[in-house]
Amino acid sequence: MNSYEKLLLENKAWAKEKIMDDPDYFERLLHIQNPDFLWIGCSDSRVPANEITGTQPGEIFVHRNIANMVVNTDLNLLSVLQYAVENLKVKHIIVCGHYGCGGVKAAMTNHNFGIINKWLRNIKDVHRFHRAEVDSIADEDLRLNKMIELNVVEQVMNLAKTSIVQKAWQQHKLPHLHGWVYDLHDGITKPIFEMPACTSIDPLYEFDDL
Ligand code: CO
Repeated sequence: MNSYEKLLLENKAWAKEKIMDDPDYFERLLHIQNPDFLWIGCSDSRVPANEITGTQPGEIFVHRNIANMVVNTDLNLLSVLQYAVENLKVKHIIVCGHYGCGGVKAAMTNHNFGIINKWLRNIKDVHRFHRAEVDSIADEDLRLNKMIELNVVEQVMNLAKTSIVQKAWQQHKLPHLHGWVYDLHDGITKPIFEMPACTSIDPLYEFDDL
């Protein structure tokens, strides 16, 4: 059997198990797409949003990319964000990074990765904003982990800079923004930064005609 065929077999077994536990499982899910949460996480295969939060299908709207970035020219992220905020009306947006993130690690080198350089440059900008704090840490792993935390903080702030979030804050006093970091060593997720709805932001980024 090919490795990918096993996935289809496992899928069949999973569907059967769900029906055995709860005959209405799929019928019920069919009619609800009403998640309270938008998850913006890293594409890393070891950080699956539903699994680590013990949530079921229908509970989290998910977007993942390398190093859980909120880049303001990323049509994919912005489309997900707009749909989640304006149509699904999510109450919380969680940016979840993870210690040991390969994307952040790569951005802290001078290696030429080709196309990925363009993505990683957004993380290099985070390094530049916090250069003194990051570069003062002698230990390589601790320096990387500090960058991972600061990157999550910056990406949460990038959410607040969008007209999508600012408009929702003005109209609905939602969503609240959260920055979390997951630890691959023990599976524990640590909250490190919060921006409750309507938090004041740098006036440079405020829109006055939403
Ligand atoms: Co990662």
